[in-house]
Amino acid sequence: MKEKIKSKFVELFGNNGDIKVYFAPGRVNLIGEHTDYNGGHVFPCALTMGTYAVARKRNDNKLRFYSMNFEQLGILESSIDELKYDPKEDWINYPKSMIWALKSEGYNIETGFDILYNGTIPNGAGLSSSASIEVLTGFVLKDLFNLNLDMVKLALLGQKAENQYVGVNCGIMDQFIIANGKKDCAIFLDTANLQYEYAPAILKDEKIVIMNTNKKRGLGDSKYNKRRAECEKALTELQEKLNIKTLGELTEQEFEENKYLIKDENRKKRAKHAVYENQRTIKAVKALQENKIDLLGKLMIESHNSLRDDYEVTGKELDTLVEESLKQEGVIGARMTGVGFGGCAVSIVKKDKVEEFIKNVGEAYKNKIGYNADFYAVEIGGGPTKL
Ligand code: GLA
Repeated sequence: MKEKIKSKFVELFGNNGDIKVYFAPGRVNLIGEHTDYNGGHVFPCALTMGTYAVARKRNDNKLRFYSMNFEQLGILESSIDELKYDPKEDWINYPKSMIWALKSEGYNIETGFDILYNGTIPNGAGLSSSASIEVLTGFVLKDLFNLNLDMVKLALLGQKAENQYVGVNCGIMDQFIIANGKKDCAIFLDTANLQYEYAPAILKDEKIVIMNTNKKRGLGDSKYNKRRAECEKALTELQEKLNIKTLGELTEQEFEENKYLIKDENRKKRAKHAVYENQRTIKAVKALQENKIDLLGKLMIESHNSLRDDYEVTGKELDTLVEESLKQEGVIGARMTGVGFGGCAVSIVKKDKVEEFIKNVGEAYKNKIGYNADFYAVEIGGGPTKL
């Protein structure tokens, strides 16, 4: 891969100067969905699939971008002095958002640069291709301009870029796991205070299988912001009586005793999901640590049901993948992952059943939905690296 993308870079941008190659992963969240903007826990891992970049500093303020995933768009030019979201700028809004975030906090990006990207994660599938580009760009700039920046700060800047430049009010999960991924481990992150620990997620007899609905999402971003606003409103209602800063502080019982304070049925359901999902995540990590893989599977299924019924972010494509998965021999658990409304689901499947699982779920999905799903039996990889 390194040689292939480097020679493409040379073909497009020439051979002079110091050309460097980098990688940042994509991510899949095992459990803890829509908890990261509610002060709850998440349990994602980084993938060996991700985004590669080849980059070189320039002597002027020009930026030249090229993506091997959008070759038809050719080289896109801009400048480090033009950092404002523009829908016409397409995918380069993501790397530009990161330059903006760094500059907004006083990091000195002295000159422009040429950069080529090549992603091996399917775009827009909910495996965080955008956070991967953001964190990767930050990592490249840290190296090119010797920025004094640790990986937690890098993740926070990625989130700022997404929130304030791109306009999606995302939590910290995606940027955090991408910046801090560790081979064969999932990260157990408390989003209330960013404390985290790695939990070995080497499954002896099982594989993680990601299932892509191939459904284009469209309205996902605005619905995402809406869910977030509903949770914030529910929190304000609970705060009339409770001294809490986030929904993540509540146990299931505390929620049940106080839910009458939430004056709208939908908001009640959203808040219920946030509280129960956070508790499920804590239980799931414990289950994995104690090698109780069946319990982990059961919690994943409960998570999906809650996202379907209370948070209402699944849809027939994701529900079909999960329902069909759960009919298969050798499946431990399955659930949607990421923002929802389309994108991917994740399942844990006995190694010797993976092939049959993919075949059966694939056929059933095609019959019910009318087009194919894609399947990836994935490995858990590390964070950003220079190659
Ligand atoms: C998206 C966001 C994350 C998180 C998930 C849902 O991936 O970027 O911050 O909220 O959705 O769990």
